[in-house]
Amino acid sequence: MSENAEDNAVSIPAQSDGTQAATSATATLTKDAGAGEILLKVTGLQKHFPIKKGLFQRQVGAVRAVDGIDFEVRAGETLGVVGESGCGKSTMGRLITRLLEPTAGTVEFEGKDITHLGVGGMRPMRRDVQMIFQDPYSSLNPRHTIGTIVGAPFKLQGVTPEGGIKKEVQRLLSVVGLNPEHYNRYPHEFSGGQRQRIGIARALALNPKLVVADEPVSALDVSIQAQVVNLLDDLQEELGLTYVIIAHDLSVVRHVSDRIAVMYLGKIVELADRESLYKAPMHPYTKALMSAVPIPDPKRKNAKSERILLKGDVPSPISPPSGCRFHTRCWKATEICRTTEPPLLELKPGQRVACHHPENFEDQAPQDTVLLTAAKEAAELVADEVLAESAATSAAVAAEVAEIAEAAEAAETAEETPAAAESADKTAAAAETADETAEAEAAPASPSAENSSEPEGEGKK
Ligand SMILES: Nc1ncnc2c1ncn2[C@@H]1O[C@H](COP(=O)(O)OP(=O)(O)OP(=O)(O)O)[C@@H](O)[C@H]1O
Ligand code: SF4
Ligand SMILES: [Mg+2]
Repeated sequence: MSENAEDNAVSIPAQSDGTQAATSATATLTKDAGAGEILLKVTGLQKHFPIKKGLFQRQVGAVRAVDGIDFEVRAGETLGVVGESGCGKSTMGRLITRLLEPTAGTVEFEGKDITHLGVGGMRPMRRDVQMIFQDPYSSLNPRHTIGTIVGAPFKLQGVTPEGGIKKEVQRLLSVVGLNPEHYNRYPHEFSGGQRQRIGIARALALNPKLVVADEPVSALDVSIQAQVVNLLDDLQEELGLTYVIIAHDLSVVRHVSDRIAVMYLGKIVELADRESLYKAPMHPYTKALMSAVPIPDPKRKNAKSERILLKGDVPSPISPPSGCRFHTRCWKATEICRTTEPPLLELKPGQRVACHHPENFEDQAPQDTVLLTAAKEAAELVADEVLAESAATSAAVAAEVAEIAEAAEAAETAEETPAAAESADKTAAAAETADETAEAEAAPASPSAENSSEPEGEGKK
């Protein structure tokens, strides 16, 4: 890790030298943000916006925009966050950049609890965590020149870069692919893609460690989207940045993310590395989101017919559905889904999912197989191929798990009684653990049979 930390330090150019503060910021980065180490950790994070009514503005309810989420972001990685409109992505982004005060939970940055830091306490942090906003049209002040906009962070932090602010701003403009000579122009003289580049230059001004990009390309033409996403990708490599990139569908984040968090109604329902998520999504909602992304793969000719259409709109975050919040739209929902909230569990290495009947896995509650009426209606919108494939994988994984369990059980019994040992031998081939035991059984059964499963035990004999 320490080696990585050194590499990281080398790859980050000192942009804002010339002041003590800037030098110490670079030093902190060298010391603290080794690649792969946890940079940001979020625990039980909540944001409930109160709904007030009447003359006395009494609180009558709350919008549960973010309702208890846990995740971490490692230095140098890109975490993609996806989910439908209104699921709380922007609120989450504003919470982790501390632009919003959380209702509950904690946000730690480089191991330091920053959840309730005031303006003064947050000042040094503001250099390290920057945000790129969704709309490049409204996020740039139309009355300010590009030079003033990109140079503003230096003024706010009281930092004078080496060579002066103008020179540094021009350098930043060329880093993001803009003409440095356009320093004195106004935002309206630029296209959407160029404006977003200006927003990126502003975010990079203070050499941040973490950049939270809230739908950085959704306001742009598709042709420009790829350019901006590629720019973000290149900058990450060059400057050793860590990203949280928010998007409403998977097409934007699929190429740039190392890990992806899928949000639904204020909760993270699945969090996994990109490969696992694309190869075998486990939450039905992830599967639905993924089926909506067109994949240019000639081998998947039938991809269109496998699209999963979701029933109705996202329910209101003011009174989210009981149990699993997705149960009103899920084609697999059973009674337990309506009554019990599934926790986010690591069901496969690096893949956390909150579901009672996950896809590509054995059914978590096989005894509970009666579908809710809503689920039957939802299932009508799902292609038969998808339902059949999901049932087949679920059955295959369940059979595999049962086989392994059976073999392990037989092996255990074999250790206890020599008679059972023979039958264990037959079943053992199915499981690796049982393989070892089967070898051990080749030795004559004796009162010391317990030791025989251990290689050392065999050696002693
Ligand atoms: N300041 C606020 N006051 C009250 N409710 C809010 C506030 N900000 C957001 N909300 C509500 O919180 C919920 C989540 O909003 P948020 O903007 O985080 O969603 P989102 O996932 O970013 O959506 P989109 O994809 O449309 O940007 C929404 O129901 C929204 O109406
Ligand atoms: S199967 Fe149940 S727990 Fe899983 S997503 Fe559907 S409704 Fe939620
Ligand atoms: Mg948003």
